[in-house]
Amino acid sequence: MDALRKILVSFSGILALAVQLGAVSIVPQPSEMKETRMTVQLPSDRLSVYPADRSLKPLVGVWADFLRKPYSPGTEVLSTGFTRIVSETVLPEVKLTGNEQKADICLYLDASLAEEEYVLEADMEGISITGGSSKGVWWGLQTMSQILVQSAPGISPGEPLTIPGLYIQDKPRFAYRGAHFDPCRHFFTVEELKTFIDMMALHKLNTLHWHLTDDQGWRLEIRKYPLLTEVGAVRSETKIGSVNDTAAGFDGTPYGEGCYYTRKDVKEILDYASARQITVIPEIEMPGHAVAALTSYPWLGCTGGPYAVWTTWGVSDDVFCIGKETTFSFLEDVLDEVCEMFPSEYIHIGGDECPSVRWETCPDCQKLMKAEGLENERQLQGYLLHRIEQYLNSKGRKIIGWDEILEGGVTPTATVMSWRGPSGGIKAARQGNDVVMTPNSHFYLDYYQTADPKANGEPFGIGGYVSLRKAWSFDPYDQLDEDVRKHIKGVQANTWTEYIASFDHYQHMDLPRFAALSEVSWSEDKTSYDDFLVRVTDSMKPMYEFFGYIYAPYVFEGIE
Ligand code: ACM
Ligand code: ZN
Repeated sequence: MDALRKILVSFSGILALAVQLGAVSIVPQPSEMKETRMTVQLPSDRLSVYPADRSLKPLVGVWADFLRKPYSPGTEVLSTGFTRIVSETVLPEVKLTGNEQKADICLYLDASLAEEEYVLEADMEGISITGGSSKGVWWGLQTMSQILVQSAPGISPGEPLTIPGLYIQDKPRFAYRGAHFDPCRHFFTVEELKTFIDMMALHKLNTLHWHLTDDQGWRLEIRKYPLLTEVGAVRSETKIGSVNDTAAGFDGTPYGEGCYYTRKDVKEILDYASARQITVIPEIEMPGHAVAALTSYPWLGCTGGPYAVWTTWGVSDDVFCIGKETTFSFLEDVLDEVCEMFPSEYIHIGGDECPSVRWETCPDCQKLMKAEGLENERQLQGYLLHRIEQYLNSKGRKIIGWDEILEGGVTPTATVMSWRGPSGGIKAARQGNDVVMTPNSHFYLDYYQTADPKANGEPFGIGGYVSLRKAWSFDPYDQLDEDVRKHIKGVQANTWTEYIASFDHYQHMDLPRFAALSEVSWSEDKTSYDDFLVRVTDSMKPMYEFFGYIYAPYVFEGIE
């Protein structure tokens, strides 16, 4: 058997000991992982991968692409002021093979495993990855990426890679492991978003929450309402420094011309994400965070405007008018196109940070409240959300909204995204709503990463403080009795971009804190923070340096 020839079994102490000393670190911590007193050798120039099932064939090409090295080794200070470190590590080229006997890695399906579960074995038979579906196999390949990156440094051309004998059985704790992407305040290109999706895949995150509309820019092409992107994508200038720093003023430079995603872009992103086993959930904000839409079509507001795409940050009093039927026609038209573009079961409808002052003095809103017997403006917001939920349900979709949707009397079928700490999620789960935990206390990755950002040279940001340790410490089931825990569908990190103008900065905010998100959302049994930090240092940091990602250095320098 050819595969056997590639395998070196060492029963004598020395080689096995060397492997024991350099034990493999994996993030997130697998459910079960054993290293055996054996080593497996792989060619360092080319890995042949055999997919036993036809449906697994595309994964091989995607994995080969994923492991391409985009930057040359070295340390580079970028024009944005961030440092990129790229390791010397070179990985073998990944090739598809139809010959099981000659394969270095074989991929199998086993319907007795859970959908995202996988078993990775490296032993005398070679390497196999068996998944409950292509999702499980893909996450197994991600674990394999970490193993390869750890075994490759220092290998001379022609020398084999040596990895320890392994048995890993692994599956996620939560079905929803999300990362939120905000291209509204600052725009990011399709290529940057693809890199972001790669960053997610590396951390076994499976849901991209794509925040597409906000006060400072509407970023999704809607054919029926072209002004949303002709007018609503562009703001006349941008606030310099903190919103509270009036002396700093504005930059005087228009921002956002052409900064939106076309249908073609959306398809490209959806295909890219889907190939990496990632679901994309679009967010269309309502009834607040709507100034860009109001500027494009002033009849959507209570006062009729004029409005101007917002040039600063915060919460605007100008929101969609709920009292006008034309607002509903608009929102339904937009959602029709969103549903055409996005196949996801869930559509995020926002719902956060919506003042009611305009509704309080708007004759249309007041008239509707009277006609519907609504006692206050929060119920008016609830009226809109219920109608929109029914509309989306009629199209076979479900809604997710920020935790403020609890205030207007939420339906039992809406999923609540708890952002103002975990309390909204706890309340929602206890009343029977499904929940995604995305508490600002632990998973707002636009917050600073160290206790003294100025002294540590952190780039200027929105404030707050979420250390890697704090993020890792999050317990999604805190205060929740056994019987309601089933409503916690998962965990997500949010990175808002008011103060994040470059993708270099974006990466710096998310890495390495994505590692904490990864472990909290994937691993059933967390070990200790110290153990986690060792694994992040041994596995994730080399991965970031292999891919040329920009990461925050603080925890690796002992700074919190
Ligand atoms: C939010 O951060 N306003 C959801
Ligand atoms: Zn109104």
